[in-house]
Amino acid sequence: MKKNIIAGNWKMNNSLDDGLKLVSEIATMIKEDPVNEVEIIIVPPFIHLTVLDKLLQDYDQICLGAQNCNEHDSGAYTGEVSTAMLKSSGVDYVIIGHSERRAYFNESDELLATKVNQALSNGLTPIFCCGEPLSVRESNGQEDFVFTQLTNGLFHLSEESFGKVVIAYEPIWAIGTGVTASAAQAQEMHKAIRNHLASKYGQKAAKNCRILYGGSCKPSNAKELFALDDVDGGLIGGASLNPADFVDIIRSF
Ligand code: PGA
Repeated sequence: MKKNIIAGNWKMNNSLDDGLKLVSEIATMIKEDPVNEVEIIIVPPFIHLTVLDKLLQDYDQICLGAQNCNEHDSGAYTGEVSTAMLKSSGVDYVIIGHSERRAYFNESDELLATKVNQALSNGLTPIFCCGEPLSVRESNGQEDFVFTQLTNGLFHLSEESFGKVVIAYEPIWAIGTGVTASAAQAQEMHKAIRNHLASKYGQKAAKNCRILYGGSCKPSNAKELFALDDVDGGLIGGASLNPADFVDIIRSF
């Protein structure tokens, strides 16, 4: 049985002290009343990972993800972090292709495909992000847009490797805007994504793939989104910075 996932992407927020406080509060709430049907992932900035890994030793329900990785093994890439470093720091997941990285750091589909390979070869689970901008949604081109991202970023993988990938559908117009995709819009896109995956990897692999929704997900809309047939959890930005909101979302299945 595939497990739902809630991942909290802090982006470039929280000092170390703030981060430690936030994770301690979340971990305490989860330990007091465990949520067994959900995989919980905290995705802080790189620099907090090792300290948070130590803190989380006592809380096996919560694991760590990174917000990005480099596509090379090692070498002269000043300022970059490799997937082997992440793995050795207690990280299990890595977000690849977040729309902010595509937009502000010019990350192309081709680059993201190499990052996916790099993550998989070092035992990290990629959380591969896709999603259309508002202009594309307004002209009803969202399916083609997202299918191209998926085809270019993932369809070089073998079926076995594809089976290790998590997908996050995040319409860009919903990220950090307070505007969430309606339940109908989310289900329609998640179903279309699953069908696209099935066209390459077959029905079974597509059914087993976890497809998360991201974009202004919060306690007030999480239940409705997670009840949808093809939504297997959430990638949470803003609401993951508040411990009570994040735990509320985790308890929304
Ligand atoms: P948001 O961000 O929840 O603040 O909209 C989601 C994301 O960017 O992953």
